[in-house]
Formats: sequence, C-alpha cells, structure tokens
Amino acid sequence: MTALEMLEGLPRLDLRGFVSPVQRLERFSETIGVEVWCKRDDIGSVGLAGNKVRKLEVELAHALACGATHLVAEGSRLSNATRAVAAAAAALGLKCTLLLCHDEPHEPVGNLMLDGLFGADLRFVGNVNWLELAEHAEIVVRELERSGERVYRLPIGCASERSCLGFALAYGELRYQMRAHGRSVGTIVHASSSGGTHAGLVLGNALHGFESQIRGIVVAEDVYPDVAGTYLSFARGGARLIDAEVELTRDHINISEAYLGEGYGLPAAGIYEAIDLLATKEGLLVDPVYSGKAAAAIIDLAARNELKGPVVFWHTGGYHALFDPRYAKRIWSAIERLSGVEL
Ligand SMILES: Cc1ncc(COP(=O)(O)O)c(C=O)c1O
Repeated sequence: MTALEMLEGLPRLDLRGFVSPVQRLERFSETIGVEVWCKRDDIGSVGLAGNKVRKLEVELAHALACGATHLVAEGSRLSNATRAVAAAAAALGLKCTLLLCHDEPHEPVGNLMLDGLFGADLRFVGNVNWLELAEHAEIVVRELERSGERVYRLPIGCASERSCLGFALAYGELRYQMRAHGRSVGTIVHASSSGGTHAGLVLGNALHGFESQIRGIVVAEDVYPDVAGTYLSFARGGARLIDAEVELTRDHINISEAYLGEGYGLPAAGIYEAIDLLATKEGLLVDPVYSGKAAAAIIDLAARNELKGPVVFWHTGGYHALFDPRYAKRIWSAIERLSGVEL
C-alpha cells in the first residue's frame, strides 16, 4: 500500500459534511495583481469551526478508538481550537474541559461565549505562558482520571503528528479541485500558530512531489521554543504514521513572523486594509487575529512580487473576533469610510 493510500484510508470522522469549495477571488486578484483563489475552510463544519475540524476528524477518530469519555483542551480565551473541541465533544456525546489562559476578555464574547454554549467545563488559569498552561492541563487530566474518566488530551491548537494528517489530506483535496478548474497550486498562504496546518500541508505537498510553495504566516509569538523544529517534527511524525518515505528538512518549513505586528490578537500593519479589501471586493470576511494577518501578507508579498501564482489563500476560519466589541471598535475606527459615520 502506498503512503497516499494509507493516508486516504486513515480512520477519520466526518465533522464537516461537505468538501469546502475553492473560489477564484476575481476582484481581489485584479486589485493586487496576482491570481488568488480562496479555499473556504471558514464555512460549514461543526460549531462554526474552521481549520481545526480537519485535525479533529483524524485525532478524535483515534480518541474514540481509545475509548475516550472526556476531552481536555487548552488555549487562549480567544482560541478557535478550544471552541472546535467543545463543539466536536458535544456532537460526539463526550464530556469536555477547557483550560483557558490570558486575562481578557472578561465578557462572554466570541469563542468564549461559544465554549460555554457547547457545554464545556471552563477553567480559567489567568495570564500564563503556553508551557505553564500545559502544566495546568496535566493536573486537570490527572484529577479527571482519578474520578474515573478516560481522558483524551488535545495539545495546544490541537496540533500533533496525527492531527496534521488531516491537512496532508486537505492538500490533495485542494490540488484535485484546482485541477478541475484547469489550474495548479503555485503557493498556499495560511495563518499559522500551533503548526498542524502548516505541517500537514507541507507533508501533503511532499507526497505530491513538492509542486507548491506552502507559506505559513505566524500570528502568535513563542508558541514553542523552536517553532520551525516543532512544525517539522509534526510533519515527520505524520509521515511515519503513514509509512511515507519523504525527506523533510527545515528548509521545507516556510514560515514568516513579518506580519505578526504587535503580537497575538494585536494590530499589525496592513491588517485593516486587508479586512476592508476582501469585504468590499469579495464579500469575504477575515478576522483581525488569524486570517486577516494572512490576507495582509498576501497583499504585501504580491506588491513585492514574491508570490508564485496561482496563489491559494487558505481561509482557516475564525470570524468571531469580528463581533468582539474591542476588535469591532478598532476595525471601525481604522477604516476611513466607517470612522466618519456617526453612530
Ligand atoms: C482561524 C485560525 N487560523 C489559523 C490558525 C493556525 O493554525 P495552526 O494552529 O494549525 O497553526 C488557527 C489556530 O490557532 C485558527 O484558529
């Protein structure tokens, strides 16, 4: 059996129910002078979730096979990953505990609101770093296990060797769709933090002969002590799980912190222009925490003539920050057309 056949045959759940479309962004492309398509992982799926669902389809098939009764996940209060886990747990009839860090927001907005609605047990651990958060999660896992639960713990961003296989599969899906449109995949640009998306796309690309460039736009600082090395270890580990004989090195990990701006969830150059341009030219929404930074990167890289086309903007989802009053106010005042409007 080939590695691609093993990948196709992986046990996985269907938490999306459909294949997300890829759409040509005509007016956006015309404006920035590069042919851009959008892979719409922002739509459909369990619990309004975006890219995390592909990871969970593979990871939670394994969790169920292990007899899990309770999912434990960790992340910031803004996290889309924890929300996706909470939604998937509800859909699968599993219990769920979330460990949430960062002090803001204190109001039930965005993902925090949804985490609660999906019935997860929420534990707030304050302003800790990612390593401390993981330690808190370990303590909760042991506590739940002592009470008789069979716990399956999902790491930060649900990123793992296994879960990245969901994105290795996704690469093949996109390639097939683009071929149906008579187009190849020159470059994929996506928002990146915990690395499962990037690792999986890199592995998928490797399985198809390294025909595309995969560019991850980093949206969170210091997720790991060695970010590129950790991404690489996910991709290599995923390759081992499907017996793929591909040589993956650090050179295959292509990530940039140039668009992180002031940090995770904080403003970055070009982000409001990107939100505005996609909304007005395409009716497409990107958020200021994740996909907006990837979109800002596309605009900038196109201006520098650094993108090999056709470009696919992998829309990883995450609208909810748009409805968080803090972000909504920033966006409204940053867009000239809106800032003058008397409310
Ligand atoms: C909307 C959105 N885009 C992109 C990412 C980054 O994906 P990954 O964690 O796989 O690097 C995340 C997760 O943090 C996300 O929620």
